[in-house]
Amino acid sequence: MKSKTLNPFISSGYVAPNYFCDREEESKLLTEMMLNGTNVTLFAVRRLGKTGLIHHVFFPFQNSKEIVCIYVDILSTENITSFTNKIATAVYNKFPPQNSLGKKIVELFKRFRPVINYDELTGSPSLSLTIETQAQKEQTIGNILNFLDKQGVKVVFAIDEFQQILTYPESNTEAILRTYIQQLQNTSFIFCGSNQKMMHEIFNSAKRPFFASCTNMSLDPIDEKYTKIL
Ligand SMILES: Nc1ncnc2c1ncn2[C@@H]1O[C@H](COP(=O)(O)OP(=O)(O)O)[C@@H](O)[C@H]1O
Ligand SMILES: [Mg+2]
Repeated sequence: MKSKTLNPFISSGYVAPNYFCDREEESKLLTEMMLNGTNVTLFAVRRLGKTGLIHHVFFPFQNSKEIVCIYVDILSTENITSFTNKIATAVYNKFPPQNSLGKKIVELFKRFRPVINYDELTGSPSLSLTIETQAQKEQTIGNILNFLDKQGVKVVFAIDEFQQILTYPESNTEAILRTYIQQLQNTSFIFCGSNQKMMHEIFNSAKRPFFASCTNMSLDPIDEKYTKIL
């Protein structure tokens, strides 16, 4: 066990590696797959530690120049436009506007005439791009992913609660995303989700676009000996 100072009062969110217990095998495996550029699915019931594991695995790469890890939770999205805005916001927030790549990112988003809102509580910005035509709805996400893919850095996106895409009114969302993702050279994905039935539908159904496109990783409950300390 890595944890030295377990704090029993922490009940939500990932804090730091010291508070994270067990999961050594899973962390190692997920890190390896991430470094190899493998696309991964991670699904298990709620509260089993999927989101925590992603943050834990991303943590050492926070300031890395070689690999950029971007986490996005899409539970609150309801269509492909809000999905695109979530990704755009995460990308925008990841790159400081003062560095050269950050400047390029700002230029990229300017093309989409973004409206920037600031969260009242946290002050963090969120982008709302101008996406009007059907073509823009389908292409903007591809433009963003393609742009990042060509910047000479490895990019890993973790998309949490990915099953949400099944609720979008656009029935071709899976096909659109799969098409863009397939073309990327330096970008990989961790698709995570708590609704196992929906996640299985997306990734394990032979008729659907994401079938057999990722390595499945399952998560078992944390060993009881650790839960006693917690
Ligand atoms: N390995 C771990 N060590 C300590 N706390 C953990 C660990 N994994 C998850 N947790 C905590 O358990 C709770 C549920 O984990 P979470 O990652 O949100 O689950 P999921 O994403 O599967 O619903 C959170 O409060 C999280 O901080
Ligand atoms: Mg979660």
